[in-house]
Amino acid sequence: MKLAERMNRLGTETAFEVLVRARALDAQGRDVVHLEVGEPDFDTPGNIIEAGAHALQTGWTHYGPSAGLPDLRAAIADYLNRSRGTNYAGDNVVVTPGGKPIMFFVILALLEAGDEAIYPNPGFPIYESMINFTGATAVPSPIREEKDFALDVDELEALITPRTKLLIINSPSNPTSGVLNRQEIERIAQLAVQHDLTVLADEIYSEIIYEGEHVSISTFPGIAERTIILDGFSKTYAMTGWRLGYGAMPLDLVPHINKLMVNSNSCTSMAVQRAGIEALTGPQDEVKAMIAAFQRRRDLIVDGLNAIPGISCHRPKGAFYVFPNITATGMTSKQFADYLLNEHGVAGIAGTSFGSYGEGYLRLSYANSDENLVKALERVEAAVKSAQTVAV
Ligand SMILES: Cc1ncc(COP(=O)(O)O)c(C=O)c1O
Repeated sequence: MKLAERMNRLGTETAFEVLVRARALDAQGRDVVHLEVGEPDFDTPGNIIEAGAHALQTGWTHYGPSAGLPDLRAAIADYLNRSRGTNYAGDNVVVTPGGKPIMFFVILALLEAGDEAIYPNPGFPIYESMINFTGATAVPSPIREEKDFALDVDELEALITPRTKLLIINSPSNPTSGVLNRQEIERIAQLAVQHDLTVLADEIYSEIIYEGEHVSISTFPGIAERTIILDGFSKTYAMTGWRLGYGAMPLDLVPHINKLMVNSNSCTSMAVQRAGIEALTGPQDEVKAMIAAFQRRRDLIVDGLNAIPGISCHRPKGAFYVFPNITATGMTSKQFADYLLNEHGVAGIAGTSFGSYGEGYLRLSYANSDENLVKALERVEAAVKSAQTVAV
């Protein structure tokens, strides 16, 4: 079969490939600690499951409006305004099966050959993949350990050209868990206004923050009309498998993103959307407990990694990833990630799976039990010790 040329430009998300390889080792009877996929290990809170099941039993089994149920769109706008201080109405919101389609649709709707889009590197791999897919030029904005894995705004400014159309930011971020502070976000907002850029603000980890505050770029003057907030239920409500996310955007973009929904999914599952209403309007205690558990585990894994000679690990303020520096092993990121999985039974992701600036790092998701994290730390220590001999 002769594929379209654009398929050569589409990338992928390595986490899913590593998961398949790690599961194949599980099937052979190997004991693997899974720190590869970015999802909460907790189950979806019971009240949300009940709302979804009840919806299925009471007739929510049909097609619905492509942009989402009006009640859910209104609940999302209300949640954003409460939690971020934004000023959205339900009509600004498009509901999608997961947050990822918002990335896909917005990039597809805005970019074409000749445009440039700036994206974080290392960053969520789908940004670069989708920019390339449209034929636009993907311009990496390096995310550096020296800057606490926040974006260097001076460096960002130097990357803006008259062709720059879209700027993607992600805070708290995947894979580094870096968090942008208010001053940094404000300067980015000023640059976007000054250079007439559209901003895709991926805020999917906004609730998973341990120190400081989550600041949404949409709250700065002149910016909401050029910003799309991407968020969803996957991480905050442990709902990755349900597939429920959304974008909040200027009203004039809504019909276009809606048209992409009509052309691809028709609509998001009705029962899942009903569960989403319960998630936003019901009790939030389980979310709080989950975040407290993540914070404890963050300290466990960061302290544990820093105690291993040859590894250094920054203590992130949000999300549930650590991005330890593994250069002292003498291996590349890919070599060390493969070695750690194949020889020591810990599945993690090479930093380079998130872009070229991820060389020298490994991404580990600590959304796992304390017991598994302790086991993983022992194995990482053994791997680092033996890697130093293997690499010479
Ligand atoms: C930064 C970032 N954005 C978006 C997504 C997509 O999330 P969803 O499962 O809602 O599609 C992820 C998932 O890993 C992510 O890490």
